[in-house]
Parts: sequence; C-alpha cells; structure tokens
Amino acid sequence: MLNVGFIGCGSIGRDHIERVRNTVAGGRVAGVFDVVDEAARKAVSDFEVDAKVYGSAQELIDDDAIDVVVVASRNDAHLEPILRCIEIGKNVLTEKPLTKTSEESRKIVDAEVAAGRRFVQVGFNRRYDPGYRRLKAIVESGEIGSLLLSNCRHYNAAPATSYYKTDDVILDTFIHEIDVMQWLFGENYAAIEMKIGKRNSLNPAPDLDEPQLAIVETESGAIITVEININCQYGYDIQCRLVGESGIVALPDPAMPEIRKNLAITREIDPSWTARFEESYNEEFKAFFQSVARTGGPAAIPTAWDGYIANITGEAALASLHDKRRVEINIPEKPDLYK
Ligand SMILES: NC(=O)c1ccc[n+]([C@@H]2O[C@H](COP(=O)([O-])OP(=O)(O)OC[C@H]3O[C@@H](n4cnc5c(N)ncnc54)[C@H](O)[C@@H]3O)[C@@H](O)[C@H]2O)c1
Repeated sequence: MLNVGFIGCGSIGRDHIERVRNTVAGGRVAGVFDVVDEAARKAVSDFEVDAKVYGSAQELIDDDAIDVVVVASRNDAHLEPILRCIEIGKNVLTEKPLTKTSEESRKIVDAEVAAGRRFVQVGFNRRYDPGYRRLKAIVESGEIGSLLLSNCRHYNAAPATSYYKTDDVILDTFIHEIDVMQWLFGENYAAIEMKIGKRNSLNPAPDLDEPQLAIVETESGAIITVEININCQYGYDIQCRLVGESGIVALPDPAMPEIRKNLAITREIDPSWTARFEESYNEEFKAFFQSVARTGGPAAIPTAWDGYIANITGEAALASLHDKRRVEINIPEKPDLYK
C-alpha cells in the first residue's frame, strides 16, 4: 500500500482524494497540502481520511512517510513540486497540463534525462478511457489502414467560470485532444490553425471568444479537426471519428439507458467531465499505483515528454489564435529515455 501525498485540494484534487479513499486500491491518502490551508483541512474531514495536513508542498514531498505524490494544484503551480520530486527520487502523478509553458516542461524532461529514469506520469486521462483505448487498439491492428483524417468534438454545457478566457481554451480544454490525437495517430504534428467562430449569445464569459475550430496537420499530411464549443448548453459531449484508408472508426457514445416515453426515445448525456471520464481517472490511478509497486516507476504513458510536446503544440495554437494564421510546429528529437 503506497502512502500518497496530495498537493492541491480544489475541484479535481478532491475527486482524486475521494477515489483513492473509496475506489482505487493500492494507495492510502496519507498527506495533503493546499496553499489555502482550509481547503486541505476540509478535504481531510469531508472524506474522513487519516492524513497529515502539511505546511508546504516541499515539506510533504520531502517527508519519508510519503511514498508518491499527486499534483492537482493550479496549472501555474505544477513545476516546482514536480522538479522537487525528481530531485529526491519520488514518483509523481500530475494533472494536465504538465506546466504552463514548453520552457518549463522542458526543465522536467531534462531533469528526468539527467536522473536517467522517469518519475512523472501526466494526467492525460483519456488514454485510460475504455473508448479511446479501443480506438487505439483498432488503429494499431491495421484494420482501417493508415489514418487520413479525423474530426473531434469537445463540447461543454458552459464554461467553468465567468472569467474563463479565450486563451484558457487551449491549455485547459483543447490540450486533451492535443495529447490523445497525437497518441492515436502515433506521429508528431507539423502545423496548426485555429479559427474563432460566431459568438454564442448564451456565452456568459465576456473575455471568452469561442466556439473555436482547430485544424491540425500531422507530419505525414493527415488532417485532424477539433470543434471546441464550451457553451453548447446541452451537456458534456466528446466525440472522435477516425477515417482510415479502408474504413472509419468512431468513439462510442457512453453507455446510458434508453428511455421510451411520450412518443420518444431518449438517452441521457453526461453533465460534465467528472462523470464522463470517471473510469479513465480510476484507471490512470490504478496504472500509476500498480506500476510504482511492480517496477518502482510510473506507468509507461503518458510521459513528461508527452506533456512537453503538448505544450509546444498548445503554444502554436495560441500563436495561431493571436496572429490569425497557420503556425508550424517543430517537435525536437525525442530523448532515448522516452523511446
Ligand atoms: N484531467 C482532467 O480532466 C482535469 C479536469 C479538471 C482540472 N484538471 C487540472 O487539475 C488542476 C486543478 O484544477 P481544478 O479544477 O481542481 O482547479 P481548482 O481551482 O478547483 O483547484 C486548484 C487548487 O490548487 C490550489 N493551489 C493553488 N496554488 C497552489 C500551490 N502553489 N500549491 C498548492 N495548492 C495550490 C488552490 O488553492 C485550489 O484549491 C489543473 O491543473 C487543471 O488543469 C484536470
């Protein structure tokens, strides 16, 4: 049983504490830290865990009583704790994005390369979703041939906050497709163009321009389009359709009961990512705990390298949003550690 220390006890930090407390075997909630001390204390009492509340992230990481660390703090607070974990040799599962910038994420890659081993698993949870895993298996089987095209939807009923901004769409929302599509296609991206569509009059966030459309080109010339619409009003709707040389494969809709009533057949749609991807979060934690217990290191995917190249693509997307042009993406040579 691994003693797990949690940094960040906000929305998803609390979800993760609860899943380790109640659902996923192999770990025990042993410590918590949040810059808002009350948030850490509240998590301990709400989920009735026997965990120490630490006064700083470093105090938690450095404590021998903590075996592994989970970073679920704000995007701009991931870098320092992750670097500290690598420095003292502790495995860490961090929420996405790895950091705010490719420059910061490169420091994490360089630290792992210098240490000669991996310590970091990045929370690109879709790689653990049963539907996406099935897509990956079908693509790898060669059943539909080489991939030519893909279209994806990332729809939320409403933005998480009224202060959600145009740029936040990239690192907070679109980053999931950036990672998972790169994984499904199994090749690097070459260029990206972002377009902003007609404003939804129901969009409550004044500084949020969307819907956005991403057009991504891979190195071999395949094209991926992603519609990002976070004011769709009707629910959380994730879709992905892959077009191969000899067939098409699409993500199944989540299994929901069908209701026949009043001359209609209806099926529920998940209200948020929490419900839609619950199984994937459980699976990513299971993979992390099992891998640490069996091999001493994190699961094979997603790596700090995956987090780093997602940042590079995210920066190209931001440049495209700002300059209204197609932007080339240059992914550096992958170090042997990640091959
Ligand atoms: N994988 C997913 O599907 C998914 C979904 C939601 C959020 N996230 C990611 O999880 C992270 C947290 O998001 P959230 O929605 O829980 O946000 P949140 O704002 O609800 O919570 C963030 C917490 O971090 C704390 N915090 C801020 N600075 C800190 C620091 N320096 N040290 C420790 N704690 C600090 C805040 O006090 C807050 O409690 C973000 O990186 C976000 O991108 C991932």
